[in-house]
Amino acid sequence: MESFRIEGGVPLSGTVRVDGAKNSALPACVASLLTDEPVVLHRVPELRDVSTILYTLGALGRRVVRHGAHVSIGVGEESSTEADAYSVRQMRASFLVLAPLVARFGRAAVPLPGGCAIGRRPVDLHLTGLRALGARVEERDGVVLVTADRLTGARIVLPYPSVGATEQILMAASLASGETVIENGAIEPEVEDLAALLGRMGAKIEIDGRTIRIDGRRELRGAEHTLIPDRMEAGTFLLAGAITGGSVTVAGVRSEHLTPFLGPLESTGADVTIGVETVTVHGPSRPLPAEVVTAPHPGFPTDLHPPFVAYLALATGSSSLVESVFEDRFAYVDALCKMGAKIVRSGAALTIHGVESLQGQATEATDIRAGAALTLAGLAARGRTTLTHLEHIDRGYSSLEEKLQHLGARIERRDE
Ligand code: EPU
Repeated sequence: MESFRIEGGVPLSGTVRVDGAKNSALPACVASLLTDEPVVLHRVPELRDVSTILYTLGALGRRVVRHGAHVSIGVGEESSTEADAYSVRQMRASFLVLAPLVARFGRAAVPLPGGCAIGRRPVDLHLTGLRALGARVEERDGVVLVTADRLTGARIVLPYPSVGATEQILMAASLASGETVIENGAIEPEVEDLAALLGRMGAKIEIDGRTIRIDGRRELRGAEHTLIPDRMEAGTFLLAGAITGGSVTVAGVRSEHLTPFLGPLESTGADVTIGVETVTVHGPSRPLPAEVVTAPHPGFPTDLHPPFVAYLALATGSSSLVESVFEDRFAYVDALCKMGAKIVRSGAALTIHGVESLQGQATEATDIRAGAALTLAGLAARGRTTLTHLEHIDRGYSSLEEKLQHLGARIERRDE
């Protein structure tokens, strides 16, 4: 089994260039189903989740050509409207194929995504959105069957600004007849990036606050698009610099996407400097405590909650973090406590009593961001940390250990 072996206690320093955003890459690849012309994507991160979505598209009959960070997706010889069960269970984002399949071919059969380590994660809002556009939705033996003649634009008020549901509706509405208005839509930078790609493909989309207007087209065309930088990868490296009391610059980033995270980071005494496509952090010797509540963008991003808690574990006082997006994103907490952190959970709220140091431990990643949190804790801890189940980390971070080594970290991937 592969593991990270981390010898903690080295302040990181240097510059790391971040990849394109995983959560932009996944819907962008899916959007290629909306046209028969090629969609060419640049800055596509080399991640397991991206391989999974490309596999899903291949199984639907798409022709996928990949050269490093460049991916071209076009029509293959045969097409199918039934998504592969294995890949949807591997990764919830595969469920997004529903919208383009039904919008293009009038039919889609997609297995319900399985449970997930960070919460229940239902898909009711995705299906309500498709029904509002005139689709018929049934569930048979764990498979969602959606059929429609041409979808028709509608006004859809989301009770919660779900990222996935907004992306699903954006894609369906782009090929619907007439105008669709999404009220209370998600406005994460990755949703805006999907809207930008759909715009290049010929859709007309306007985003005004949480109101999104889509003027549907009969056909979309191929397009070429460069994905936005991964704000979660950037945030993770900034925290790696801060937690080790080092100085790290992330390059190739859009600092405005990081604002909801940089405010709380600065409140801990970290010194943050914003440059042209760069952000630099100088970590404090120990962070000041902070109070954080995760929320949909522009709130504090839930994906940076576990790494931020690892950082606050070393604060000079007591911090709090409330998780408002995923009710069960706490699987890493016990592992952090075994490393010496003092964290008390009450429902979706954590109280983090800062300690002076953490101790290296043998531990395991349970999901992408839990794995990132434990890696950061290991970098700051005294002694050796061994982290297994790297398959979770590899879903969302490419060559994490190599990039950290480049910043001076003593981390290696071992296979034994
Ligand atoms: N929700 C519903 N019904 C729905 C859809 C969502 O109740 O039909 C609930 C979920 O259960 C959850 C909340 O709404 O409690 C937020 O879910 P959302 O749909 O916004 O998230 P997602 O689309 O499933 C994406 C990212 C996540 C990220 C969240 C929130 C992708 C592929 N995934 O998930 O990324 O945490 O938005 O920003 O874009 C990660 O990268 O580690 C990750 C989990």
